[in-house]
Amino acid sequence: MASLARSMDLERRLNDSLGLTPHLGWSSWNVAQCDAASEKYALETANKFIELGLKDVGYEYVNIDDCWSTRERDESGNLVPDPSKWPNGIKAVVDQIHDMGLKFGLYGCAGELTCASFPGSWGHEIQDAELIASWGVDFWKHDNCFTPCTSEPFPQTCWEGSIDTRPWYGTMRDAILSVKDSKEMLFNLCNWGRNEVWTWGYDYGHSWRIEGDNWGDWESVVRIGAKASEIPEYSGPGGFNDLDMLFVGNGVLTEPQERLHFGLWAIAKSPLVIGADLNALPESSLKILSNKDIIDVNQDPLGIAAGIFQPPNAPGPVRGEIYPYWAGPLSDGVVIGLVSANRAGTLSVNFADVPGLEGGSYNWKELYTGEEGTGESISFNVAENDIAIVKVTTS
Ligand code: GLA
Repeated sequence: MASLARSMDLERRLNDSLGLTPHLGWSSWNVAQCDAASEKYALETANKFIELGLKDVGYEYVNIDDCWSTRERDESGNLVPDPSKWPNGIKAVVDQIHDMGLKFGLYGCAGELTCASFPGSWGHEIQDAELIASWGVDFWKHDNCFTPCTSEPFPQTCWEGSIDTRPWYGTMRDAILSVKDSKEMLFNLCNWGRNEVWTWGYDYGHSWRIEGDNWGDWESVVRIGAKASEIPEYSGPGGFNDLDMLFVGNGVLTEPQERLHFGLWAIAKSPLVIGADLNALPESSLKILSNKDIIDVNQDPLGIAAGIFQPPNAPGPVRGEIYPYWAGPLSDGVVIGLVSANRAGTLSVNFADVPGLEGGSYNWKELYTGEEGTGESISFNVAENDIAIVKVTTS
């Protein structure tokens, strides 16, 4: 945390008590990309949050991603909800979602176009902030397609490290902060980790994507999980590393992989954003996504992300791979993650070797199985690409 420069904007946000823990919700993108950016999905999801008990365990934000607008702005320059997807406009849907005690998020882009080539906010930042605030939008994701690069016109994606993405995120942050009704809006920076966003994101928004997209394959989970282990110290109340939307319940990962994906995102204090169709969610995935003990770890008020630690005699971390040993402080203890990537194995740790714990006997609980015990160490057989998440209570 020492590396964080806390600015006035951050202080103001903290005073607003906004984003003090990672946001919990759902997003349309991983469900069916453009096809899911509709009133139908938004309202069905909100209803399912209640019906499936997801609201009860903390899921709150129903977020619509790319493709919700028409291809052109109107004659006043405003974004227009696509009438075939939003027959009643967006405000009517936001009002219904608010009436259900939930929140509504929307997507836009810093560039001239969104990643799927709908109008972006470039040059329209204040106008767009005013419009979405007038609809009561609670969350804005700001993407990074069609922004300045080394050549004109702006390309769909630019990975050129010498280009500083900060200015356009600052423009939208200031636009949102300048609009009277948008003060309670979470601001998510989606610049895919460009310019080491974790070192400055805190002063710009409440969460920031640390990597390229989670494509819904195992390699993405490994790539993003490995990256998170390098930069846990940049997350804290008011601003968190965003490991990207989940692929749990989409039928692309095995059950152990889904446990590892969700568990790692949770202890790394990422926003937990479900990316599955809640009308077709397998029971096993619902069980993972609604694990209250793990959600409580993610939402712990300390807001400190777990990082990796190396027990004596354990091999060191390998770049690009998920390291087996993770730990992070909680307000009443320590959470330990034991990850068995690529092969099943027995993973053991003495509590004396875990950051935040001293030698001695503690009560512990494995949060997926509910197994409990007391002692000076733990040892678990972890299936291939699975995780054990152990909460050690100190007070
Ligand atoms: C980018 C973002 C994704 C998603 C798509 C939408 O790839 O990183 O999260 O929003 O755009 O087009």
